[in-house]
Amino acid sequence: MTEPTTPPEADGVEVAPDRPVAPGAPARSADSAWDPRQYAVFAGHRGRPFADLLARVDADDPTLVVDLGCGPGDLTLGLAQRWPSARIIGVDSSPEMLERARALDTDDRVEWVEASAEDWDPTESGAPVDVLVTNATLQWVPSHLRLIPSWLESLAPGGTFAMQVPANFDAPSHRLMREVAARHPRADDLRPGLDRAQAVARPETYAALLLDRTADVDVWQTTYQHVLGGEAGGPHPVLEWVRGTGLRPVLGVLDGDERDAFVTDYERELETAYPRRAFGVLFPFTRTFAVARAAR
Ligand SMILES: C[S@@+](CC[C@H](N)C(=O)[O-])C[C@H]1O[C@@H](n2cnc3c(N)ncnc32)[C@H](O)[C@@H]1O
Repeated sequence: MTEPTTPPEADGVEVAPDRPVAPGAPARSADSAWDPRQYAVFAGHRGRPFADLLARVDADDPTLVVDLGCGPGDLTLGLAQRWPSARIIGVDSSPEMLERARALDTDDRVEWVEASAEDWDPTESGAPVDVLVTNATLQWVPSHLRLIPSWLESLAPGGTFAMQVPANFDAPSHRLMREVAARHPRADDLRPGLDRAQAVARPETYAALLLDRTADVDVWQTTYQHVLGGEAGGPHPVLEWVRGTGLRPVLGVLDGDERDAFVTDYERELETAYPRRAFGVLFPFTRTFAVARAAR
């Protein structure tokens, strides 16, 4: 399979394309549904980048905080704890994730809104946004570079936009997924979902976009050395990790024997790429962070 290319933007930096799905290919709804329980298997590891992102958000007493792509709500509720007097809105397109979030939010602290990032209108809340956080979500929103400017316009003076996306699409976990898909009998059906699932830009693209529009910008990357446990003889932990996220476009297209064949082939590759050791499996994971603050 040829690697998908990312077309250059006019200024010479790569942008996340709004990847058209090939004719006859499954549309976005072909992804398997988000499964909050599977996603929670590595909640500790997944929470760390959110904490690192929020550590760079300098907001003492925001009035309105939005978590775009809030997922199962545990991290959003952390925002409510940090800013007890703020109005908090959690937006997500997954009914399954929002159901879990509402169940966790026993004090009705957060306004949970079902909407896709593409359709979400930040002015609907009726007030400027003081903190707009979007963590581990924009990789699922291929048009996000075109959406970010309108989100920045919704910020209050001095308001903060904070985002984090994975930058691991060339890591073995994702490269092997594409390679196994390319040799699968349903390769043509699998390719569009996997291409779309890598729609992030380079850090300098986010930096340029934000620097053109906001006063203070901080963009960085961190590579986490996650140590994943897992029972001896049990599923490979990297397989379990991606089952909750990056493998969903494959799981949504395949079922039965076709799915089993894919998973067996992929897991065999993961066993070699991420060997099991006495301490577990080392899973390096690079992420891109960007925090921008509007002028006061
Ligand atoms: C990897 S989870 C991250 C959840 C949470 N922010 C966290 O850090 O744990 C990605 C979330 O993005 C949501 N999502 C994916 N595509 C979306 C879209 N187009 N609009 C809104 N939410 C979307 C999914 O439903 C899922 O809850």
